[in-house]
Amino acid sequence: MIEVIIRLFMSLKALITGSSTGIGYQYAKYLALQGWDLELISQNEERSIISKENLSYENAKFHTYDLGKKESIQFIVENIDVPDLIVANAGIAINGAIGELSREDKEYYYYLMCGGVIDLIEGFVPRMIEKGSGRIVIVSSIGATASMPKSSLYSSIKAGIYAYGKSISTELRKKNVSVTVSLPGYVRTNAHERSGLGHLMKKVPWWMWVNPEQVVKETEKASIKGKAEIIPGLVYKLVRPLLGLQPAIHVWQKLTKKT
Ligand SMILES: NC(=O)c1ccc[n+]([C@@H]2O[C@H](COP(=O)([O-])OP(=O)(O)OC[C@H]3O[C@@H](n4cnc5c(N)ncnc54)[C@H](OP(=O)(O)O)[C@@H]3O)[C@@H](O)[C@H]2O)c1
Repeated sequence: MIEVIIRLFMSLKALITGSSTGIGYQYAKYLALQGWDLELISQNEERSIISKENLSYENAKFHTYDLGKKESIQFIVENIDVPDLIVANAGIAINGAIGELSREDKEYYYYLMCGGVIDLIEGFVPRMIEKGSGRIVIVSSIGATASMPKSSLYSSIKAGIYAYGKSISTELRKKNVSVTVSLPGYVRTNAHERSGLGHLMKKVPWWMWVNPEQVVKETEKASIKGKAEIIPGLVYKLVRPLLGLQPAIHVWQKLTKKT
């Protein structure tokens, strides 16, 4: 409600990471329709240009940085004015059994989807507190709460940022800064194809896929309400209590097996 009133007099600004495709792009589209000013960050120049053409929105600035690098986050925090909403979404699927990933890769992925998200948030939060308002959305994954064989690194990274988000949600509530962690299941984006997990698009049944538009709608609604977490999609809300159980792990293993 307060946001709606503010928007009548001045524009609000959102910073979205991973905005070129998938969930981040849909988030940008959703907020553009509501007149937000947008700072959009992704890595690949070509995909950023395509997203700019597709979004076709004059109140958006497009930046390209590798968010797996500390200097990128430092530059963003030092050079972009404090936003009213941060959507920490950038990420990739990680395919790899135990011992298969190099130490460099593990550190890079951890920074991209956990350490760097923490640095980004902590770089802006003091100014949000000073302003007396702000919202933060972290896109984690339902994998944070489940056993993910051959994606253990991904699962642990997403669990780390989930725990961080839930904790700061309580901590910042009194300061009028809300933090919402979104835990999507399988979402129809290019993420799996990009990470060599394209077989999942065929193997995982259609009813287990949620559209990115729905993820955004449910996540944004939860964030506005100040909820600490949201699981987008009915199917994942229903199965969440079962995810840690052995039969569910067995089914997951069968569904995600390459052959
Ligand atoms: N799809 C799913 O099933 C699913 C499920 C649960 C959670 N998630 C999470 O949702 C988030 C978005 O994923 P998505 O499915 O929308 O994937 P996507 O379509 O592949 O989009 C990923 C976005 O992150 C950006 N990105 C990746 N690495 C980056 C880097 N090093 N620096 C800057 N930007 C980078 C990409 O930019 P470029 O185009 O420049 O590479 C792109 O904009 C991720 O955190 C993912 O883990 C996805």
